[in-house]
Amino acid sequence: MTQTTRDILVTSALPYANGPLHLGHMLEAIQTDIWTRFQNLRGHNAYYVCADDAHGTAIMLRAEQEGITAEQQIDRIKALHVADYDDFLVKFDNFHSTHSDENKAFSEEIYKRLRSNGHIAERTITQAFDEEKGLFLADRFIKGTCPKCKSEDQYGDNCEVCGATYSPTDLINPVSAYTGSTPVEKESVHYFFDLPQFDEFLKDWTRSGTLQDEVANKLNEWLEAGLQQWDISRDAPYFGFEIPDAPGKYFYVWLDAPIGYMASFKNLCDKSDLEFDQFWGKDSSAELYHFIGKDIINFHALFWPSMLHSAEYRTPSGVFAHGFLTVNGKKMSKSRGTFINARTYLDFLKPEYLRYYFAAKLTNSVDDIDLNLEDFVQRVNSDLVGKLVNIASRCAKFVTKGNDGILADSPENAELWQQYVDANDVIANHFESREFSKAIREIMALADKANEYIAAKEPWKLAKEEGNEALVQAICSQGINMFHALITWLAPVIPSTAEASEAFLGKSLKWADATEYLGGHKINKFKPLLTRVEGEQVQKMIEQGQKEAEAMQKAAAEAAAKKQSANQTELLKEPLAEEIQFDDFAKVDLRVALIVDAQPVKGADKLLALTLDIGGETRNVFSGIKSAYNAEDLIGKHTVMVANLAPRKMRFGVSEGMVLAAGPGGDEIYILEPHDGAKPGQRVM
Ligand code: MSP
Ligand code: ZN
Repeated sequence: MTQTTRDILVTSALPYANGPLHLGHMLEAIQTDIWTRFQNLRGHNAYYVCADDAHGTAIMLRAEQEGITAEQQIDRIKALHVADYDDFLVKFDNFHSTHSDENKAFSEEIYKRLRSNGHIAERTITQAFDEEKGLFLADRFIKGTCPKCKSEDQYGDNCEVCGATYSPTDLINPVSAYTGSTPVEKESVHYFFDLPQFDEFLKDWTRSGTLQDEVANKLNEWLEAGLQQWDISRDAPYFGFEIPDAPGKYFYVWLDAPIGYMASFKNLCDKSDLEFDQFWGKDSSAELYHFIGKDIINFHALFWPSMLHSAEYRTPSGVFAHGFLTVNGKKMSKSRGTFINARTYLDFLKPEYLRYYFAAKLTNSVDDIDLNLEDFVQRVNSDLVGKLVNIASRCAKFVTKGNDGILADSPENAELWQQYVDANDVIANHFESREFSKAIREIMALADKANEYIAAKEPWKLAKEEGNEALVQAICSQGINMFHALITWLAPVIPSTAEASEAFLGKSLKWADATEYLGGHKINKFKPLLTRVEGEQVQKMIEQGQKEAEAMQKAAAEAAAKKQSANQTELLKEPLAEEIQFDDFAKVDLRVALIVDAQPVKGADKLLALTLDIGGETRNVFSGIKSAYNAEDLIGKHTVMVANLAPRKMRFGVSEGMVLAAGPGGDEIYILEPHDGAKPGQRVM
């Protein structure tokens, strides 16, 4: 069968440079890597590029928190990411960064083209702003009391307690998650990509076979609902690229992130003889595929093709979305210890186990994929060790010993071999259409047949009797041929076992000759190819994951405490109030007060109702110190109150004065207490 050689460029989504890779990232990288390796094994020219997604507020603040520059932060993370991918046998042709010269050049060029095509709009918008930090606040960085159920400390877009969704302006007592200060509304000019102009284009493009049906249907709903302009600018301070002719305005991280695919490829072209335009030019005949998770479909199937279309580049041939990884049936979670970092896995287990397990579960749908750890151990041991490697190890010694490693000329069981020959295209089609689980099922069914065949023939028994030499050779040679086919099909999945098998088989693996019968071919001495997964190692990995999660939580708590004490220092630096004369001060009547009773106030989260004795006279005062004190601990203490403050009517009653206290808030509020000896009712001067 002749086939033309295809030029294929493949990407997976660019991981954020603000933290380590986890097994969810690896699911995507392994899916993409298997597919790319498959294409190359078939004789095509497939290139796999990726990069770190280095821009955005999160990365900027993370660096700040670590006390390093954003550049240092992204370099540090990139080295970790590259090592993780490498050790998972994910083979990139290039791994770059969105914070690169190439990406800056492409981002500016594409933006300018969009602008001259009339696809950029400019508008003033009002946004929450943290004056202390000098930063506009995204919804999730505003916290406050839920307007519906009144739970405190909820995010600006939804309440985790009652599930209400709202906008940050609806929050009661909104505060910035960075500084705790009250956000103000502030206007600023933003730039928008005018997506509605691409309505017709997208209606065609999304239905042109570039997307999975389920994805196309989802997008159809969005298209029906009507597209919105997309805000592509962010105000300084921001870690990213400044927008041309717009000082102080930066490209939103998601504008330059997909352009990072081009930039990484350009970087590869500059180091090789690949032609950039052949892959990205408007009339490119090459294929371009993006592997992504289902959470980022809108960026890849709406904004990205529209940008490329406007800027006169080619659009993707396919966007392939996968589902999310769950562990033991649940979302990966730090507290359950099922959040597994790529490195944690690698510290205990071989990469090929997971590559095989993922392949055995991956389909071309957006369904979630579960890593069930018991099933993982069982499946890998039974399939890879018990079935696959077993065929080679059982047959090799008879061929090497009996015939100096030379394989017999033709199949001993032609009918069985024909089943292998027939399966070759079927398996290829499954890989091509990303139905890896179907491919694996097919491959393992054939491995079963090979094992049944060998078990039924019992060459080890035959070998004990004189005169069976040729038959034993024929059986075991067929066994080796079946192993050769199986390992060729599995090479994209378990590349290092495939490499070791090449040494054993004395030939390189190619899809085209997976089922060409190796007759008269000489094989080498068999060496163990793959060892079993130890359940104990899995257990150790989980324990390690739990430890890491705990350490992270502790570090987060310490960082929060540090931030709070930093806030406190800020308070000390707070400018003093306007100067007053002694007469002004003398107007404030401060008295020593004995707290005779303290009670929580029903319906008020922050207040305590205090009964104060100021020397024969009793005052009822509501004080916002509940977050710092147990009511009963206050009873019997002396404090200082403003005794001549006009009574204030509150929702819970009348407050007759004010108790003096200091501190940043939360559990750090300290009431003023006179030294021993001061008596209730005495004036404080
Ligand atoms: N930086 C963006 C992508 C920009 S692409 C131009 C981003 N980064 S990410 O680090 O959050 O995610 C990278 C990829 O990993 C995404 O495709 C995402 O869907 C995928 N996954 C992240 N967690 C995942 C799981 N738990 N399971 C499977 N894939 C998941 O988004
Ligand atoms: Zn609520």
